Amino acid sequence: MALKDRVQDLLGQVRDMKAANAEELEALRIKYLSKKGEITALFNEFRNVPPEEKRELGQLLNQLRQQAEGKINEMRELVESQKAKAERLDLTRTPDPIELGTRHPLSLVREEIIDIFSRIGFTVAEGPEVEDDKHVYGMLNFAPEHPARDMQDTFFIEKEIGEQKPTDVLLRSHTSSVQTRVMTSQKPPIRVLCPGRVYRNEAISARAHCFFHQVEGLYIDKNVSFADLKEALLYFAKEMFGPETQIRLRPSYFPFTEPSAEMDISCDLCGGKGCSFCKGTGWVEILGCGMVDPNVLEACGIDSKVYTGYAFGMGVERIANLKYRVKDLRLFSENDVRFLRQFESC
Ligand code: DAH
Repeated sequence: MALKDRVQDLLGQVRDMKAANAEELEALRIKYLSKKGEITALFNEFRNVPPEEKRELGQLLNQLRQQAEGKINEMRELVESQKAKAERLDLTRTPDPIELGTRHPLSLVREEIIDIFSRIGFTVAEGPEVEDDKHVYGMLNFAPEHPARDMQDTFFIEKEIGEQKPTDVLLRSHTSSVQTRVMTSQKPPIRVLCPGRVYRNEAISARAHCFFHQVEGLYIDKNVSFADLKEALLYFAKEMFGPETQIRLRPSYFPFTEPSAEMDISCDLCGGKGCSFCKGTGWVEILGCGMVDPNVLEACGIDSKVYTGYAFGMGVERIANLKYRVKDLRLFSENDVRFLRQFESC
């Protein structure tokens, strides 16, 4: 190829040069402009060009070198400014586009429980998670040495807080503690729901955790009966699990209610026929309930001859398990987005 054609060819190559980073740029510089570069080689050959062609070719060659140098400098500025920009990146900033989170299944269930009971007049009350023995057990009719205390594996807080004895301070093991706080600070009629986190000293497994969530219900007024309790819970079960849902109450024992019961709902997986989920019984347990024990009313300064009441308590995880068939409790607190994303449309 004649020298002139090679210059033209290289002019085209120079125009199309591209470099994504400093290394690629340096490679291009070496290829064309270094001592052994292609453009430098043409200049060497230029010495042998006949004098009548020198003028035109010389101009072309100079143009080629200028364009190559210009383009390489231009690209160098770009690469350097990109590098500087990358170094200035604020890695603490929220990435773009912002990914929308989802509501936690336990929040969804808690809100639904509150929503259902708010339609029959219940409001929400809250109490502390770090509690004292009196509000968690004493006022709820747990006798000091009564084995019922062992029902709840309590976390005691060793540190002395104020006047209280060390073992008086504990993490509440049930939201029934909020009952005593509400009853001592409000006058009947009382109709509250107490949602919250509770703690128990349990080994963590698929079926138990050292913390979980409960919603407590309390209704105190004149003439509140067990029939009222049953009616409210039937309404709840149908709203939560569908209109075909049936309930059954089994006698049970809690120190703070008399009589006490545990409530089952008909298994919605098999429609009550019996399956592996309900262990062939057709029923699954969902909550504890009963008539507030007169001793509890009196301990909270409410006249048990004038007022009666009912209470119930349910585990939010338990309800969520039934609703969404989550087999492993630990999923609720691990915040694995692959689990949480499944609740996106709920
Ligand atoms: N506090 C009970 C528990 O944690 C649940 C419970 C049962 C609450 C009966 C109540 C009730 O208000 O009446 O296991």
